[in-house]
Amino acid sequence: MATKTSRKHSLADAALIPLDWTEERSGLVGYTKWFLFRKVPHDISWAQTLGAASLTAFIVQATTGVFLAMYYKPDPSNAYSSIQNITEELTLGWLVRGMHKWGASVFIILMFLHMARVFLFGAYKYPRELNWILGALILVSGMAEGFTGYLLPWDNTAYWATVVGININATGPFVGPFLAQFLQGGLMIGPDTLPKFYALHMLVLPGAIMALIGLHLYLVVRLGVTSPPWSKTAAGRERGPEAGAREGLIREPATEGDSA
Ligand code: HEM
Repeated sequence: MATKTSRKHSLADAALIPLDWTEERSGLVGYTKWFLFRKVPHDISWAQTLGAASLTAFIVQATTGVFLAMYYKPDPSNAYSSIQNITEELTLGWLVRGMHKWGASVFIILMFLHMARVFLFGAYKYPRELNWILGALILVSGMAEGFTGYLLPWDNTAYWATVVGININATGPFVGPFLAQFLQGGLMIGPDTLPKFYALHMLVLPGAIMALIGLHLYLVVRLGVTSPPWSKTAAGRERGPEAGAREGLIREPATEGDSA
């Protein structure tokens, strides 16, 4: 009969063997450990979790969006009824749709809060300017996600909100009228507009956002997280003369008997 200790060992083996197998062939376990256990300043706070919160909101949007796409019909004669079917007939359809709809606002709000934190902490300055630019592109793509998604229920609110949005775009200098015509898929909003918005909403924009988030996180890991402005221990901000002397940056005051 197996003892308690030997059962424990075989359980540990069951977990470790697949991990060792994967590590030997890909090095992925090592990379994941390096990514998760990297150093961050000791005085960071909840404010620095807003980026991860934005990422969580995006993952919720992507996941609920996949389920909605399984039942949504992107053509003008069926779009509205397919949305009604999702909300009223499908098991937990109301919940998935509600999470996607309200989650969209949460995503945008979290991105703005994260951006405000980065701005107030001065974390956009050298060497993180490129990450700020990537963030700004993510923000614009996120707002475009909201705009294209709003039309999909194909009801009166969706239609008129899109008319207003497209008209605002049309007033832009030089490219405005072309952009408006491209978005409408013709001279006015019609049957071609809906599939175009759907393709942008569930393929082009999420793909772009995922790629941009990948680059954004690569730079976060490469450059590290900025300490808060009030940090006493951030690089270059530490410390009285003792600390400098300890590290050989400042010469100790000369004592009697020193020759140089
Ligand atoms: C989906 C949207 C976004 C995700 C998932 C995301 C994710 C993250 C994460 C996880 C961090 C590290 C931890 C933290 O500071 O919170 C970070 C840092 C940063 N983010 Fe974002 N971010 C997003 C949008 C933005 C936006 C809109 C901007 C600004 C326009 C931005 C600019 C930055 C900068 C400059 C840093 C470095 C901050 C530092 O070193 O302290 N991000 N981001």
